[in-house]
Amino acid sequence: MNSAKRPLHATELLPVIRPMVLADLPVALSLSEGERWPHRPSDWKTLFSMGEGRVAEADGAVVGVGMRWLWGERAATVGLVVVSPDFRERGIGRKLLEALSAGLDRRTVLLHAAGTIHGFYASMGFERIGEIRQYEGKALQPPLMALPEGSRLRPGGRNDMQLLVGMDERAGGAVRERLIQIWLRQAIGTVVLDHPDGPRGFAILRRFGRGATIGPVVAPCPMAAKAMIAHLAGLVTGRTLRLDVQAHGELEDWLPGLGLAHVADATVLRRGSPLAPDDPLLSFALADKAIG
Ligand SMILES: CC(C)(COP(=O)(O)OP(=O)(O)OC[C@H]1O[C@@H](n2cnc3c(N)ncnc32)[C@H](O)[C@@H]1OP(=O)(O)O)[C@@H](O)C(=O)NCCC(=O)NCCS
Repeated sequence: MNSAKRPLHATELLPVIRPMVLADLPVALSLSEGERWPHRPSDWKTLFSMGEGRVAEADGAVVGVGMRWLWGERAATVGLVVVSPDFRERGIGRKLLEALSAGLDRRTVLLHAAGTIHGFYASMGFERIGEIRQYEGKALQPPLMALPEGSRLRPGGRNDMQLLVGMDERAGGAVRERLIQIWLRQAIGTVVLDHPDGPRGFAILRRFGRGATIGPVVAPCPMAAKAMIAHLAGLVTGRTLRLDVQAHGELEDWLPGLGLAHVADATVLRRGSPLAPDDPLLSFALADKAIG
């Protein structure tokens, strides 16, 4: 046994798993701060408001938390799973994940695991399907970017909600109405890529963690994604800006020019059949690392 751990008691071997309630958020926050995750109290509150959580209690104290979000009928994401360092490697993480997986058999479940933690999820039926790169830094004045022929950018707003939900679904295969609704409400800026044949993309900038983040970014091509990101980055020049983008995509060589450096990686894992987007719209940046 690791000498840094508290002694094992019978109750610690049998943690009680129960639904997370609002009053658990301060403990959840301190667990995520322990991992140096950037979430503020309001970020936890927002993520909790659109999903549901489970907590593990041992000896009456919360020693682990996890969240899940259900999207439409077919998809779900699991994230923000963290067990107190003193209580790890005793099966608590597995119990939390089992509780979070209950009733999701018919859904495709996605999650984003940092560092080497994907081994933990792989042991529970998740397969690795991709990589995410986190870019962060003080945003520089962005360059002027060209748009695809015939397209133009316009500000987006709450009236665009259904439009954005539709494009987000076409790019990722999940219906994320609640997420788009909340992101639009919290947005510092939203842009929609219009085209005479109909809208072709959007991006949302909002406050998160240490500064601001841009995501989701849904576009038909890298050129359009860059134009929307540059437009929104210009609203937060000099502030900390973060994007979580697909690894090996065309944005990776370009983001350093906005002042953003590659600071972390995550593995994308999936359990269940692929969510098959049936449209040429692509997702260039996550809405949130926990949510996808
Ligand atoms: C990941 C985490 C939740 C696991 O919690 P835990 O209570 O220690 O996990 P368990 O004891 O239930 O382990 C379950 C299985 O995963 C394996 N596992 C646990 N941590 C692992 C790691 N870091 N790497 C690889 N495998 C791991 C265990 O060996 C065990 O496998 P087994 O059942 O075949 O023996 C915990 O290490 C943690 O909080 N990490 C920091 C936060 C984090 O990165 N969360 C994931 C991102 S959402």
